[in-house]
Amino acid sequence: MPQTRAVRFHQFGPPSDVARFEAIELGDPGPGEVVVRMERAPIHPADLNRLEGRYGENPDLPAVGGIEGFGRIEALGDGVGDLAPGMAVALARVTGTWSERVRVPADRLVPLPPNLDPDLAATLVINPSTAWRMLHDFVSLAPNDWVLLNAANSAVGRAVIRIARCQGWRPLAIVRRPELIPELLDLGASEVLLDDDGLRAALPAVTQGAPVHLALNAVGGASALRLANGLAPGGTLVTYGAMGRRPLELPNGLVIFKDLRIRGFWLSRWFRQSTSDQRDSMFQELIQMATNGILRADVATSFPLSEPSAALTAAAKDRRSGKVVFRMTPGSTGII
Ligand SMILES: NC(=O)c1ccc[n+]([C@@H]2O[C@H](COP(=O)([O-])OP(=O)(O)OC[C@H]3O[C@@H](n4cnc5c(N)ncnc54)[C@H](OP(=O)(O)O)[C@@H]3O)[C@@H](O)[C@H]2O)c1
Repeated sequence: MPQTRAVRFHQFGPPSDVARFEAIELGDPGPGEVVVRMERAPIHPADLNRLEGRYGENPDLPAVGGIEGFGRIEALGDGVGDLAPGMAVALARVTGTWSERVRVPADRLVPLPPNLDPDLAATLVINPSTAWRMLHDFVSLAPNDWVLLNAANSAVGRAVIRIARCQGWRPLAIVRRPELIPELLDLGASEVLLDDDGLRAALPAVTQGAPVHLALNAVGGASALRLANGLAPGGTLVTYGAMGRRPLELPNGLVIFKDLRIRGFWLSRWFRQSTSDQRDSMFQELIQMATNGILRADVATSFPLSEPSAALTAAAKDRRSGKVVFRMTPGSTGII
């Protein structure tokens, strides 16, 4: 039985303690399956939550980490004739991408142009899809509408800025660190404000009284309340992350008198409920934006798979710009 090497955890706990680089069974591709030789796989906040046992759905143990990545097809099972060895692919709707090789159903592959930057290819599915869906599925935005978002320096936030700008909307980015302001303006944010008590007074001056219909919240607590206060009556607050680890606390009056829509987004749920046509059409849009240079890779640093503890420590570090990414060993066969 072919094996490969992967970053796996046998118990939940602090990610850098529980992750181990070890041999795992790979198996041969069965009907409808392919083996992908992985090149890059990012570490997301959701990955850290999975290792901690604090995610929406905890995996059976032992489990290999990683929920997206990029690689090239290496071996094909029966019935996948439209694919070919060497094709560049991203992996969507999978777990276990922190591995030198993965064996997956062929319908989990997103075929990519051959020369896409590997870091961008490895980070094209989860955060850009989340940004795309939140910008399109909750509110019908008109040209020049403002979109308010906190944690704007996150990978999702950066994708929201880039996609919103490209679609003719105005991203109003909220950050907790002033040093990020020039960088996010450069990236395409129409305005960048600090996530503090001055936000409420600063917002109307920026929007010049234009109603804000959509706010995207990845922090919670006081930051979410600041977004809610910035919304127009009937506006929609979409919560998709909880980086501040504080609950949503919204005054009754905001809901009664402003009739705000309080919504949630979870990409896993969207993936489950969507059709393959809906997924394909979104991936085509994202690939087009990646090819045109609208979406970019923001990678802070990378580590080999053999250094999971260092990689996970770096990924859990505060005030980082860009993703920590596993790069699979160049030149290694990966099969042992
Ligand atoms: N619901 C879904 O389907 C879905 C999909 C994708 C992502 N997410 C969630 O979206 C969030 C962002 O993910 P990502 O991959 O884009 O993250 P990321 O690139 O790793 O960035 C993390 C962001 O969180 C900010 N942050 C960290 N701790 C914070 C705190 N205590 N208070 C305020 N901000 C804090 C950081 O701010 P600095 O830049 O100032 O350090 C940074 O901007 C996460 O909660 C993730 O789980 C949800």
